[in-house]
Amino acid sequence: MAWDDIPDWAFDVSKEIMQAVNVKDPETFFHCIRVSRDARLLSEAAGLNEYESRVVEFAGLFHDAGKIAVPDEILFKPAKLTDAEFKVMQSHPVKSAQLLEPLKQIGFFGALLPGVLHHHERVDGKGYPYGLEGDGIPLAARIILIVDTFDAMTATRAYRKGLAPEIAFKELQDFAGRQFDPHLVRIFLRAKPLWSDRERDVAEEMRTTVFKQAA
Ligand SMILES: [Fe+2]
Repeated sequence: MAWDDIPDWAFDVSKEIMQAVNVKDPETFFHCIRVSRDARLLSEAAGLNEYESRVVEFAGLFHDAGKIAVPDEILFKPAKLTDAEFKVMQSHPVKSAQLLEPLKQIGFFGALLPGVLHHHERVDGKGYPYGLEGDGIPLAARIILIVDTFDAMTATRAYRKGLAPEIAFKELQDFAGRQFDPHLVRIFLRAKPLWSDRERDVAEEMRTTVFKQAA
């Protein structure tokens, strides 16, 4: 399927899903937009073609959308989660994939599911939801995990200031081969200038980049 063959209504549904995320939790919404952008950039740096990079971009967009199904008292809990609450939180990749299920008849949206569902798997097999290992983890999910973690570390949240990019780069390097695909970490680090400007206007980027085709 070519990018141009994706029906407009599917993008309208996408926007509605992301709007629901924005209503529930704007921080997660903007995190998803940044991860989406960075996932596409890392995909391109890794040599994926335009269509494949778009698949990873949109998988990045929806990766945490399932957090709308996590109760507020868990999602916004200011203290440490209990084991039971943590389990609920860890269900979010499955919930994100479930949100996209009705769109999967469209090839492009079906192709997003592996990246969404597996974005918390680790190469050492200690991730979730399935404990997949190494190359057994879909490439899109390995890409998203890196840009997701980098954004989570560097973004300033209501309760804490983001880390400096240099500290986050070191963290990725330290966990390459355990949490992250070491080959992709090398590519990420080679492309450092792409990740240095964290303050770009992501809302504007979403309007002009992510959903341009649906306008
Ligand atoms: Fe996530």
